[in-house]
Amino acid sequence: MLALLYMNNLIFSGMQPTGSLHLGNYLGALKQWVELQEQHDSIFCIVDYHALTIDYSPKDLPNRITELALDYLSAGVDPEKSIVFVQSQIPEHTELAWIFNSITPMGELERMTQFKEKSEQHKQNINAGLFTYPILQAADILLYKADRVPVGEDQVQHVELTRDIAKKFNKTFGKTFPETKVILTKTARIMSLVDPEKKMSKSLGEKHYIALSDSPDAIKKKVRSAVTDTHGGSKSAGVTNLFDILEALNGDDMVSELKDQHKKGKLPYKDLKDIVANTIISHLKPIQERRRELEEQREEIGEILIEGAERAQEIAQKTMEEVREKVGVR
Ligand code: AMP
Ligand code: TRP
Repeated sequence: MLALLYMNNLIFSGMQPTGSLHLGNYLGALKQWVELQEQHDSIFCIVDYHALTIDYSPKDLPNRITELALDYLSAGVDPEKSIVFVQSQIPEHTELAWIFNSITPMGELERMTQFKEKSEQHKQNINAGLFTYPILQAADILLYKADRVPVGEDQVQHVELTRDIAKKFNKTFGKTFPETKVILTKTARIMSLVDPEKKMSKSLGEKHYIALSDSPDAIKKKVRSAVTDTHGGSKSAGVTNLFDILEALNGDDMVSELKDQHKKGKLPYKDLKDIVANTIISHLKPIQERRRELEEQREEIGEILIEGAERAQEIAQKTMEEVREKVGVR
């Protein structure tokens, strides 16, 4: 159980409740959360305020929050070991974000790759929240004075900005926040199965990703149609991606032997794909089974989130007292 004060080497991370998770989310973030919580005090958040920055259905959002909590827990996040809560339950997140708004240069936000990409994808709804999104993310992290943030590679820039905001705050108002760093896995960037030059993402379409909820048949089908050698070459992006997935799920030894065989031209792609598909299926099986069990206990999920919010808020309130005092808004 976490003690309710600031912790050394505290881990903080979160995801948006925007629909089912894919293998990239799992191998880039979730899988390492589960490992890290064994050694570190950890807080895992469902960042619903971030999800308001793109078009969404207010009617569906509560259900999506529960679904994401189910994903966290079935993948192995343990509420006995970690704090799990919903961002909007704790108003201190937006309060701190406002204060950070006032010390973050516009130019820094304009550089953010995710903002540029999302502005491209959602041309009809480029709102101010989308622009200041990384400031709210910095507030999420620094409210708990978290030292480490396990995320996929696409979030590195946001964590760097978090560090810049912490430094600026410390310089202006006195030492308050740590200089937070990311924790990346070897598979911090899983690529699309069909277009391995792009990162795996739901917005590319069904065939591009493996959902954690996909059936064994769906997984076999998707992996079989994964692109391998598009440009010739010794090892294309698609093949590298398949090996990366295998390595993340299975460990190095078996993979280096297969890589050897591949180099010698003794590993037909059909065989490699069968191995990859079966590895994914057997890895996801217990997660899918646990999810089915947890789905029967939805009320308990609500209780876990309420208890998580209570524990998180104690830390959040303490930080805000300090921050309010320092910035002169007592
Ligand atoms: P998103 O679903 O894009 O909000 O991402 C949730 C988490 O999964 C973040 O930590 C991302 O960095 C991570 N993530 C998303 N896509 C990938 C990917 N293709 N490979 C590795 N990590 C990813
Ligand atoms: N921006 C992150 C994503 O798209 C989600 C997020 C919001 C987050 N706040 C965070 C991740 C704080 C880590 C820490 O995945």
